[in-house]
Amino acid sequence: MATALITGASSGIGLELAELFAGGGDDVVLVARSEDKLNELADRLRQAYSIAATVIASDLSKPDAVDELCDQISQRSLTIDTLVNNAGFGALGKFAELSADRQTDMVMVNVVALTRLTRQLLPGMIASGRGGILNVGSTAAYQAGPNMSVYYATKAYVLSFTEGLREELSGTGIHATVLAPGPTETGFGEDSGMGKFDFFKSAAMSAEAVAKAGYDGYQNNQDVVIPGWQNRLMVTSVGFLPRFATRKLVGKLQKA
Ligand SMILES: NC(=O)c1ccc[n+]([C@@H]2O[C@H](COP(=O)([O-])OP(=O)(O)OC[C@H]3O[C@@H](n4cnc5c(N)ncnc54)[C@H](OP(=O)(O)O)[C@@H]3O)[C@@H](O)[C@H]2O)c1
Repeated sequence: MATALITGASSGIGLELAELFAGGGDDVVLVARSEDKLNELADRLRQAYSIAATVIASDLSKPDAVDELCDQISQRSLTIDTLVNNAGFGALGKFAELSADRQTDMVMVNVVALTRLTRQLLPGMIASGRGGILNVGSTAAYQAGPNMSVYYATKAYVLSFTEGLREELSGTGIHATVLAPGPTETGFGEDSGMGKFDFFKSAAMSAEAVAKAGYDGYQNNQDVVIPGWQNRLMVTSVGFLPRFATRKLVGKLQKA
Protein backbone atom coordinates (compact mmCIF):
# COMPACT_ATOMS: atom_id res chain seq x y z
CA MET A 1 0.00 0.00 0.00
CA ALA A 2 1.36 3.41 -1.02
CA THR A 3 0.26 6.95 -0.21
CA ALA A 4 0.16 9.91 -2.60
CA LEU A 5 -0.03 13.49 -1.37
CA ILE A 6 -1.59 15.81 -3.93
CA THR A 7 -1.54 19.59 -3.53
CA GLY A 8 -4.27 21.58 -5.24
CA ALA A 9 -6.57 18.55 -5.13
CA SER A 10 -9.75 20.61 -4.68
CA SER A 11 -10.29 21.19 -8.42
CA GLY A 12 -9.02 20.81 -11.98
CA ILE A 13 -5.94 18.73 -12.78
CA GLY A 14 -5.19 18.01 -9.10
CA LEU A 15 -8.65 16.60 -8.48
CA GLU A 16 -8.29 14.31 -11.51
CA LEU A 17 -4.83 13.21 -10.35
CA ALA A 18 -6.25 12.38 -6.92
CA GLU A 19 -8.92 10.28 -8.63
CA LEU A 20 -6.25 8.41 -10.63
CA PHE A 21 -3.96 7.69 -7.68
CA ALA A 22 -6.94 6.52 -5.59
CA GLY A 23 -8.21 4.46 -8.53
CA GLY A 24 -4.78 2.85 -8.77
CA GLY A 25 -5.10 1.71 -5.13
CA ASP A 26 -3.04 4.41 -3.39
CA ASP A 27 -4.18 6.09 -0.19
CA VAL A 28 -4.35 9.82 -0.74
CA VAL A 29 -3.62 12.97 1.24
CA LEU A 30 -5.52 15.89 -0.25
CA VAL A 31 -4.20 19.42 0.24
CA ALA A 32 -5.63 22.83 -0.77
CA ARG A 33 -7.39 25.76 0.92
CA SER A 34 -10.98 24.65 0.15
CA GLU A 35 -11.57 22.18 2.97
CA ASP A 36 -15.22 21.50 2.04
CA LYS A 37 -14.31 20.53 -1.51
CA LEU A 38 -11.51 18.29 -0.24
CA ASN A 39 -13.82 16.57 2.25
CA GLU A 40 -16.38 15.95 -0.48
CA LEU A 41 -13.69 14.45 -2.73
CA ALA A 42 -12.24 12.35 0.11
CA ASP A 43 -15.67 10.86 0.88
CA ARG A 44 -16.20 9.98 -2.76
CA LEU A 45 -12.73 8.40 -3.18
CA ARG A 46 -13.08 6.32 0.00
CA GLN A 47 -16.38 4.93 -1.20
CA ALA A 48 -15.36 4.38 -4.81
CA TYR A 49 -11.95 2.79 -4.23
CA SER A 50 -11.88 1.58 -0.59
CA ILE A 51 -8.74 3.58 0.12
CA ALA A 52 -7.86 5.92 2.98
CA ALA A 53 -8.21 9.61 2.15
CA THR A 54 -6.90 12.31 4.49
CA VAL A 55 -7.74 15.99 4.14
CA ILE A 56 -5.29 18.67 5.25
CA ALA A 57 -6.42 22.23 4.51
CA SER A 58 -3.49 24.54 3.89
CA ASP A 59 -2.79 27.90 2.28
CA LEU A 60 0.55 27.21 0.62
CA SER A 61 1.26 30.90 0.05
CA LYS A 62 1.95 31.27 3.79
CA PRO A 63 5.62 30.97 4.82
CA ASP A 64 5.00 28.34 7.54
CA ALA A 65 2.44 26.32 5.55
CA VAL A 66 4.74 23.52 4.42
CA ASP A 67 6.27 22.94 7.85
CA GLU A 68 2.79 22.90 9.42
CA LEU A 69 1.63 20.46 6.74
CA CYS A 70 4.59 18.19 7.46
CA ASP A 71 3.82 18.35 11.21
CA GLN A 72 0.28 17.19 10.42
CA ILE A 73 1.67 14.36 8.29
CA SER A 74 3.93 13.24 11.19
CA GLN A 75 1.17 13.56 13.80
CA ARG A 76 -1.05 11.29 11.69
CA SER A 77 1.87 8.84 11.17
CA LEU A 78 1.53 9.09 7.40
CA THR A 79 4.34 8.02 5.08
CA ILE A 80 4.25 9.77 1.73
CA ASP A 81 5.47 7.70 -1.21
CA THR A 82 4.40 10.03 -4.01
CA LEU A 83 4.36 13.81 -3.82
CA VAL A 84 2.32 15.58 -6.49
CA ASN A 85 3.14 19.28 -6.44
CA ASN A 86 0.18 20.52 -8.46
CA ALA A 87 -1.15 23.59 -6.59
CA GLY A 88 -0.53 26.73 -8.58
CA PHE A 89 -2.08 29.77 -10.17
CA GLY A 90 -1.33 32.52 -12.68
CA ALA A 91 -2.28 36.14 -13.27
CA LEU A 92 -2.47 37.97 -16.57
CA GLY A 93 -1.25 41.57 -16.56
CA LYS A 94 1.82 43.75 -16.59
CA PHE A 95 4.22 43.03 -13.74
CA ALA A 96 4.31 46.67 -12.61
CA GLU A 97 0.50 46.87 -12.52
CA LEU A 98 -0.50 43.53 -10.98
CA SER A 99 -0.75 43.37 -7.20
CA ALA A 100 2.61 42.80 -5.52
CA ASP A 101 0.98 40.46 -2.99
CA ARG A 102 -0.68 38.29 -5.66
CA GLN A 103 2.57 37.92 -7.56
CA THR A 104 4.55 37.16 -4.41
CA ASP A 105 1.92 34.59 -3.38
CA MET A 106 2.31 33.02 -6.83
CA VAL A 107 6.03 32.53 -6.25
CA MET A 108 5.28 31.15 -2.77
CA VAL A 109 2.79 28.56 -4.07
CA ASN A 110 4.27 27.69 -7.49
CA VAL A 111 7.93 27.69 -6.40
CA VAL A 112 8.65 27.97 -2.67
CA ALA A 113 6.04 25.52 -1.34
CA LEU A 114 6.85 23.05 -4.14
CA THR A 115 10.55 23.19 -3.31
CA ARG A 116 10.21 23.01 0.47
CA LEU A 117 7.67 20.18 0.38
CA THR A 118 9.96 18.23 -1.94
CA ARG A 119 12.91 18.82 0.40
CA GLN A 120 10.89 17.70 3.43
CA LEU A 121 9.47 14.52 1.89
CA LEU A 122 12.21 13.32 -0.47
CA PRO A 123 14.65 11.94 2.18
CA GLY A 124 11.93 9.54 3.40
CA MET A 125 11.43 8.30 -0.15
CA ILE A 126 15.15 7.82 -0.66
CA ALA A 127 15.40 5.90 2.64
CA SER A 128 12.56 3.58 1.63
CA GLY A 129 13.86 3.26 -1.94
CA ARG A 130 10.51 3.89 -3.55
CA GLY A 131 8.11 6.61 -4.61
CA GLY A 132 8.74 9.89 -6.31
CA ILE A 133 7.78 13.42 -7.25
CA LEU A 134 5.34 14.54 -9.91
CA ASN A 135 5.62 18.30 -10.40
CA VAL A 136 3.04 20.16 -12.46
CA GLY A 137 4.78 22.71 -14.66
CA SER A 138 3.45 24.11 -17.92
CA THR A 139 4.34 24.65 -21.56
CA ALA A 140 4.86 28.22 -20.28
CA ALA A 141 8.22 26.93 -19.01
CA TYR A 142 9.73 26.93 -22.50
CA GLN A 143 9.73 30.68 -23.22
CA ALA A 144 9.36 34.00 -21.45
CA GLY A 145 5.79 35.26 -21.08
CA PRO A 146 5.28 39.01 -21.31
CA ASN A 147 2.05 40.12 -19.56
CA MET A 148 2.33 37.05 -17.35
CA SER A 149 6.04 37.23 -16.59
CA VAL A 150 6.03 35.86 -13.05
CA TYR A 151 3.86 32.86 -13.91
CA TYR A 152 6.06 31.86 -16.86
CA ALA A 153 9.16 32.27 -14.72
CA THR A 154 7.73 30.06 -11.96
CA LYS A 155 7.04 27.31 -14.48
CA ALA A 156 10.55 27.60 -15.97
CA TYR A 157 11.78 27.00 -12.40
CA VAL A 158 9.58 23.91 -12.00
CA LEU A 159 10.95 22.40 -15.22
CA SER A 160 14.60 23.16 -14.47
CA PHE A 161 14.36 22.11 -10.83
CA THR A 162 12.67 18.80 -11.59
CA GLU A 163 15.10 17.93 -14.38
CA GLY A 164 18.06 18.67 -12.10
CA LEU A 165 16.52 16.63 -9.30
CA ARG A 166 15.89 13.76 -11.69
CA GLU A 167 19.61 13.50 -12.44
CA GLU A 168 20.46 13.62 -8.73
CA LEU A 169 18.03 10.75 -8.15
CA SER A 170 19.33 8.63 -10.99
CA GLY A 171 19.94 5.08 -9.74
CA THR A 172 17.85 5.52 -6.55
CA GLY A 173 14.62 4.17 -8.02
CA ILE A 174 12.84 7.41 -7.07
CA HIS A 175 10.80 8.91 -9.90
CA ALA A 176 10.94 12.60 -10.84
CA THR A 177 8.55 13.71 -13.56
CA VAL A 178 7.30 17.07 -14.82
CA LEU A 179 3.82 17.31 -16.25
CA ALA A 180 3.83 20.31 -18.61
CA PRO A 181 0.26 20.96 -19.78
CA GLY A 182 -0.82 23.58 -22.28
CA PRO A 183 -4.25 25.22 -21.98
CA THR A 184 -6.56 23.01 -19.92
CA GLU A 185 -10.25 23.35 -19.03
CA THR A 186 -10.08 24.17 -15.31
CA GLY A 187 -10.68 27.17 -13.06
CA PHE A 188 -7.21 28.41 -14.08
CA GLY A 189 -8.49 30.14 -17.25
CA GLU A 190 -10.95 32.39 -15.47
CA ASP A 191 -8.83 32.89 -12.38
CA SER A 192 -5.72 33.93 -14.34
CA GLY A 193 -7.51 35.93 -17.07
CA MET A 194 -6.17 33.63 -19.81
CA GLY A 195 -9.58 32.09 -20.43
CA LYS A 196 -10.70 35.07 -22.51
CA PHE A 197 -8.22 34.37 -25.31
CA ASP A 198 -9.35 32.33 -28.33
CA PHE A 199 -5.94 30.65 -28.61
CA PHE A 200 -6.38 29.39 -25.05
CA LYS A 201 -10.03 28.31 -25.37
CA SER A 202 -9.65 26.60 -28.75
CA ALA A 203 -6.62 24.55 -27.70
CA ALA A 204 -7.83 23.60 -24.21
CA MET A 205 -7.69 19.89 -23.27
CA SER A 206 -9.82 18.30 -20.56
CA ALA A 207 -8.34 18.14 -17.06
CA GLU A 208 -9.05 14.41 -17.12
CA ALA A 209 -6.89 13.81 -20.23
CA VAL A 210 -4.06 15.98 -18.90
CA ALA A 211 -4.06 14.22 -15.54
CA LYS A 212 -4.12 10.77 -17.19
CA ALA A 213 -1.06 11.67 -19.30
CA GLY A 214 0.74 12.90 -16.17
CA TYR A 215 -0.21 9.87 -14.11
CA ASP A 216 0.92 7.41 -16.79
CA GLY A 217 4.13 9.36 -17.38
CA TYR A 218 4.91 9.35 -13.67
CA GLN A 219 4.26 5.62 -13.35
CA ASN A 220 6.64 5.03 -16.29
CA ASN A 221 9.20 7.41 -14.78
CA GLN A 222 9.11 9.64 -17.86
CA ASP A 223 11.15 12.84 -17.48
CA VAL A 224 8.76 15.37 -19.05
CA VAL A 225 5.15 14.77 -20.06
CA ILE A 226 3.62 17.25 -22.50
CA PRO A 227 0.01 16.20 -23.09
CA GLY A 228 -1.46 16.72 -26.58
CA TRP A 229 0.25 16.82 -29.98
CA GLN A 230 -0.44 20.56 -30.41
CA ASN A 231 1.41 21.34 -27.20
CA ARG A 232 4.31 19.04 -28.17
CA LEU A 233 4.50 20.72 -31.58
CA MET A 234 4.52 24.15 -29.98
CA VAL A 235 7.31 23.25 -27.55
CA THR A 236 9.38 21.66 -30.33
CA SER A 237 8.92 24.73 -32.57
CA VAL A 238 9.92 27.08 -29.76
CA GLY A 239 13.20 25.17 -29.51
CA PHE A 240 14.09 26.21 -33.07
CA LEU A 241 13.34 29.91 -32.60
CA PRO A 242 15.49 32.57 -30.95
CA ARG A 243 14.22 33.57 -27.50
CA PHE A 244 13.63 37.21 -28.52
CA ALA A 245 11.22 35.98 -31.22
CA THR A 246 9.22 33.67 -28.94
CA ARG A 247 8.82 36.29 -26.23
CA LYS A 248 7.63 38.86 -28.79
CA LEU A 249 5.10 36.36 -30.12
CA VAL A 250 3.80 35.48 -26.66
CA GLY A 251 3.59 39.18 -25.75
CA LYS A 252 1.44 39.80 -28.83
CA LEU A 253 -0.78 36.77 -28.19
CA GLN A 254 -1.55 37.63 -24.59
CA LYS A 255 -2.09 41.36 -24.58
CA ALA A 256 -3.13 42.33 -21.06
N1 LIG B 1 -5.35 25.01 -16.65
C1 LIG B 1 -4.33 25.31 -17.43
O1 LIG B 1 -4.51 25.83 -18.56
C2 LIG B 1 -2.92 24.98 -16.99
C3 LIG B 1 -1.91 24.94 -17.96
C4 LIG B 1 -0.61 24.63 -17.56
C5 LIG B 1 -0.33 24.38 -16.23
N2 LIG B 1 -1.34 24.43 -15.30
C6 LIG B 1 -0.99 24.17 -13.90
O2 LIG B 1 -1.80 23.13 -13.39
C7 LIG B 1 -1.84 23.23 -11.97
C8 LIG B 1 -3.27 23.01 -11.51
O3 LIG B 1 -4.08 24.07 -11.97
P1 LIG B 1 -5.52 23.83 -12.62
O4 LIG B 1 -5.43 24.16 -14.06
O5 LIG B 1 -6.05 22.52 -12.24
O6 LIG B 1 -6.34 25.04 -11.96
P2 LIG B 1 -7.39 25.08 -10.78
O7 LIG B 1 -8.58 24.25 -11.11
O8 LIG B 1 -7.58 26.53 -10.50
O9 LIG B 1 -6.64 24.37 -9.56
C9 LIG B 1 -5.64 25.01 -8.82
C10 LIG B 1 -5.47 24.25 -7.51
O10 LIG B 1 -4.43 24.89 -6.75
C11 LIG B 1 -4.92 25.15 -5.45
N3 LIG B 1 -4.32 26.34 -4.90
C12 LIG B 1 -4.27 27.59 -5.44
N4 LIG B 1 -3.72 28.45 -4.57
C13 LIG B 1 -3.43 27.74 -3.44
C14 LIG B 1 -2.88 28.08 -2.19
N5 LIG B 1 -2.54 29.35 -1.87
N6 LIG B 1 -2.70 27.11 -1.27
C15 LIG B 1 -3.07 25.84 -1.55
N7 LIG B 1 -3.61 25.45 -2.72
C16 LIG B 1 -3.80 26.40 -3.65
C17 LIG B 1 -6.42 25.33 -5.61
O11 LIG B 1 -7.11 25.02 -4.41
P3 LIG B 1 -7.81 26.06 -3.43
O12 LIG B 1 -8.32 27.21 -4.23
O13 LIG B 1 -8.88 25.23 -2.79
O14 LIG B 1 -6.74 26.44 -2.46
C18 LIG B 1 -6.74 24.28 -6.67
O15 LIG B 1 -6.95 23.04 -6.07
C19 LIG B 1 -1.27 24.59 -11.61
O16 LIG B 1 0.06 24.44 -11.13
C20 LIG B 1 -1.26 25.33 -12.94
O17 LIG B 1 -0.24 26.31 -13.00
C21 LIG B 1 -2.62 24.72 -15.65
